[in-house]
Amino acid sequence: MSEAFRLALVGAGRMGLTHARALAGHETVALIAVVEPVDEAAARLPGLRRYRSVDEFVHAHDVDGVLVSVPTRLHVEVATPLLEAGLPVLCEKPCGLTGDEARELQRTGGVLCVALWRRFVPSLAALRAQIARGTLGVVSHVLCSQWDERPPSAAFRDPASSGGILVDMGVHEFDLLRWLTGQELEDVCGYASTVTSEPPVPGDPESVSLAARLSGGATALVTLGRRHAPGEVHRVEVIGTEGAENVEFVPARDGQARIDDALRHQAAAFATAARGGEWTGASIEDAVAALEAAEAAIAALNGRSSAYG
Ligand SMILES: NC(=O)c1ccc[n+]([C@@H]2O[C@H](COP(=O)([O-])OP(=O)(O)OC[C@H]3O[C@@H](n4cnc5c(N)ncnc54)[C@H](O)[C@@H]3O)[C@@H](O)[C@H]2O)c1
Repeated sequence: MSEAFRLALVGAGRMGLTHARALAGHETVALIAVVEPVDEAAARLPGLRRYRSVDEFVHAHDVDGVLVSVPTRLHVEVATPLLEAGLPVLCEKPCGLTGDEARELQRTGGVLCVALWRRFVPSLAALRAQIARGTLGVVSHVLCSQWDERPPSAAFRDPASSGGILVDMGVHEFDLLRWLTGQELEDVCGYASTVTSEPPVPGDPESVSLAARLSGGATALVTLGRRHAPGEVHRVEVIGTEGAENVEFVPARDGQARIDDALRHQAAAFATAARGGEWTGASIEDAVAALEAAEAAIAALNGRSSAYG
């Protein structure tokens, strides 16, 4: 059996801890180090080699790859020195706040994989294969819903930090639409709800509803919500000329187990890519496309809805 892939985690916050929990006992990937400036956050991952900064880590590391899970506003700043040091990087989505930021990382070169975990959900891979085989006929309509149970902190939601709902949540759906159908988003419009959560965060409304036109002639509806009392739900429905499929890949009950499973598959695929194999997840080009779709949606909503701005 080959040696375990030695992974370092940069950023031990909400998502970093989710990765750490999902990777515990992984067959091929061993989380051995954490880079985290905040002592209480680092203390939640005992037993790992701990570094306080990327600079300290880059000069002392002994790992095979790095998972970057810092706030989105820091993706470029944190991932750049890692890539320049020749380390393979799996960067949490969205991989920068804008398409231009993602392009900046692309120019750095090196092995850069983007952590859009839906690409590692078996039921979605099966749906994609079904679409590619033509079992559903010609795809005419796709509906995507992503509803979180409750909003993250106001500091996280701040568009200057996360990009706001259309970037933070939207990139998952824009990437899913492209990956499932092989079609590009050509045009998008929509509305933001004026219902406020406490505290309201400008640029991160409680929910948004979008309509999009895809390059192959299909239409798409995307709903994003920060609050869904029964629990976090993610689902997609594809309607074609010969059939239709509805996949609730994160159900309100036990949804986290499905996400954790995808994170484990994603980490194993990253190890393969870091060792010179093919990366089967989202590329930096995919991240640019998803971010540009989010920027188009922001522009559309800003022109339409004062609740968004
Ligand atoms: N894929 C998903 O479904 C998903 C879900 C949630 C969050 N995310 C992404 O994960 C990223 C992190 O989000 P979060 O909710 O965990 O944020 P968070 O604020 O909870 O955690 C970020 C952590 O990074 C640490 N940090 C800040 N600067 C750092 C630096 N220079 N070096 C090392 N550590 C540093 C912070 O101290 C904190 O512990 C975001 O980009 C977000 O978009 C992805």
